[in-house]
Amino acid sequence: MLLAMASATNSSLAFQGNEYLNGIPERFDETQLWRVHNMSDAMLQSIPVGQVLEEKFGGNIWKENSKFLDVSIGKEHVKAARSFLQAHRLDAEVLSDNVQSLIDQELLEGIQATQAQPGARSKKASRSGSGMHWKDYHDLETIYAFMREIRAKYPNICRLYTIGQTAEKRDLKVLRISENPREFKKVWIDGGIHAREWISPATVTFILYQLMHNWENQPAHIRGLTWYIMPVMNPDGYEYSRTTNRLWRKNRSASRRTNCFGVDLNRNFDIGWTGFGSSKDPCSDVYRGSAAASELETKAVSDFLAKRKYNLEAYLTYHSYGQMVVYPWAYKAVKVKDSSVLQRVASTAVDRIAQKTGSSYTAAVTHEVLGIAGGGSDDWSRAALGVKYVYTIELRDRGTYGFVLPPKFIKDTALEGWTVAETVAQSIG
Ligand code: ARG
Ligand code: ZN
Repeated sequence: MLLAMASATNSSLAFQGNEYLNGIPERFDETQLWRVHNMSDAMLQSIPVGQVLEEKFGGNIWKENSKFLDVSIGKEHVKAARSFLQAHRLDAEVLSDNVQSLIDQELLEGIQATQAQPGARSKKASRSGSGMHWKDYHDLETIYAFMREIRAKYPNICRLYTIGQTAEKRDLKVLRISENPREFKKVWIDGGIHAREWISPATVTFILYQLMHNWENQPAHIRGLTWYIMPVMNPDGYEYSRTTNRLWRKNRSASRRTNCFGVDLNRNFDIGWTGFGSSKDPCSDVYRGSAAASELETKAVSDFLAKRKYNLEAYLTYHSYGQMVVYPWAYKAVKVKDSSVLQRVASTAVDRIAQKTGSSYTAAVTHEVLGIAGGGSDDWSRAALGVKYVYTIELRDRGTYGFVLPPKFIKDTALEGWTVAETVAQSIG
């Protein structure tokens, strides 16, 4: 596997989003990951740094906020991109000088951890069980097998829905857990809206495990809720990020006008859709799509939830990275009326995380810490459905590995994600 990847074609031949590669993974040899500081100075000079680095220097934006910009720059563009920044007196800190080595390390560590699993071999041979664990990231099939396994174990309280299909004909799956679906208040949890944020589906499956492995002994505030859990909202993108481009963000639907692929599902929901923070260019990583809810994934989730908005008390969506718990609004620079309640619950979750794992997370309003962006699922759940506890959780880390979080951090990070869900459940009461 590693050998095959080492002899694969050079990334400069790869045209982002196109099918040039024929299943050969895109490589990022000596691609650097930079953190550009003083983004507020750039704003003052009104230079769209991110956009320039993206369009002129083939950069891939990992994260952008009012303070800094994380962007990866291919080897061949490093020099010119650096001069561009210098010309505007902006400096870039090198977070990594070889993104490919981060990716290789992630893969290798995962393989080793999986082989070290007790009973790893026999389990595979006998094909019993999903083989789910949290020492490595898993493909879609394993995640779906895990969901089926839970349903089979607790048939009385579980229901497994296929709420739609993707452009590439993969199922969109949601598991409901409830002892009383008609009466209990509801919590929705999703992950994997963005393909490359692998820690998100890992965390959401872990939440499922935390709930179920000890269901009978869960406190009333957990057992007394209806849980809707969708570990992978963007299965096509997720699989594409596993097989072809580790840094893929969007889904994989074809655009009519260009030969670029993919819509940013978190810019495609029907709230502030034409506003800031998204692009109408199908080749952009934050392409909002041809219309609000144009995408099969967005449509399936929106329709499913709209039918179940009665008693829907919480909408939790897991992303990475940045270590934050944020709440609406994102599409406009306004706080929701009950923001003090949302801030208090988020702060409690953040305090508990610090006690449990020692990680520091930030509780804040989205637009203040991540900038304004329309079309998000979080804002939509509040605006369209009136959900009270709406949170986007940006999991680990703060930029050392970014999306390529080594598997050894999965467990603790997932525990942090679970802590937020637990705290919200307790607040619903
Ligand atoms: N990193 C997430 C994104 O860019 C943040 C989501 C925050 N919410 C939002 N509606 N922008 O999609
Ligand atoms: Zn995301």
